[in-house]
Amino acid sequence: MTVMLQAKNLSRSFGGIHAVRDMSIDVEQGSITGLIGPNGAGKSTLFNLLSGVIRPHSGQVTYNGNDITKLAPYLRARQGLIRTFQLSREFGRMTVLENLMLSPQQQLGEKLWPVFSRPQAVRERDREIYERAEEVLEISRLEPLRDAYAADLSGGQKKLLELARTLMIDCDLILLDEPGAGVNPALMKTLTDMIRRLNTEHGKTFLLVEHDMDLIAQLCDPVVVMAQGAHLMSGTFDEVRADQTVIEAYLGSAVDA
Ligand SMILES: Nc1ncnc2c1ncn2[C@@H]1O[C@H](COP(=O)(O)OP(=O)(O)O)[C@@H](O)[C@H]1O
Ligand SMILES: [Mg+2]
Repeated sequence: MTVMLQAKNLSRSFGGIHAVRDMSIDVEQGSITGLIGPNGAGKSTLFNLLSGVIRPHSGQVTYNGNDITKLAPYLRARQGLIRTFQLSREFGRMTVLENLMLSPQQQLGEKLWPVFSRPQAVRERDREIYERAEEVLEISRLEPLRDAYAADLSGGQKKLLELARTLMIDCDLILLDEPGAGVNPALMKTLTDMIRRLNTEHGKTFLLVEHDMDLIAQLCDPVVVMAQGAHLMSGTFDEVRADQTVIEAYLGSAVDA
């Protein structure tokens, strides 16, 4: 087993709130690791720490053995560690294909391509991106929607597009924050299938946060549970589901809410 992404003793607070405290997690290469926990457990904050959107106050993040704790998100992305982002409003006015073709530079935060100095290189690069986009449309089963405006997609189709955009970059590990949120049951299966296929056929490793326990049960091994900013336990879905401390953490948060 190779640990691909590792967080060690990460802590991050906001004012007096310890959103993440002394949290450690390993993501094994080739796994679909699930991250669950009650509302406010610190899952999104941990995600932001792993993708580099925010910095920890203490602790360390390593990726493929390299310390990336202080690396900007686009530099992590260049190393193959990326996260999905919700499509923003302006992306809605572009088609599915256009969204894909825009992704590589956008997501890596690169400077404008040197349009004036190297037109030939631009054309070549455009063609490569177009060919890659065609492939990604195929993989994500979004081909029939290639000319649809992103704004007109259903919630589930948008999730597929978000995931598809990550594939425009040569990535190895994909962080997914609630891929199943707002997805209807029919598309949930498409989404689940796509994640599984990307894992088994394309070798992608995943860390995903999700509330939908069916999705977790179907895809994730191991499942890591967070509560109050810290690691509570990890194991298979069945182990986690049967664990008394996990049940109490969820019940406790329901009473608080
Ligand atoms: N930017 C922020 N400013 C202040 N408090 C925050 C911020 N982000 C998260 N928190 C707090 O940190 C805790 C963990 O939040 P979060 O990571 O969003 O949990 P989860 O995703 O598990 O629901 C919550 O109490 C939340 O209110
Ligand atoms: Mg969250």
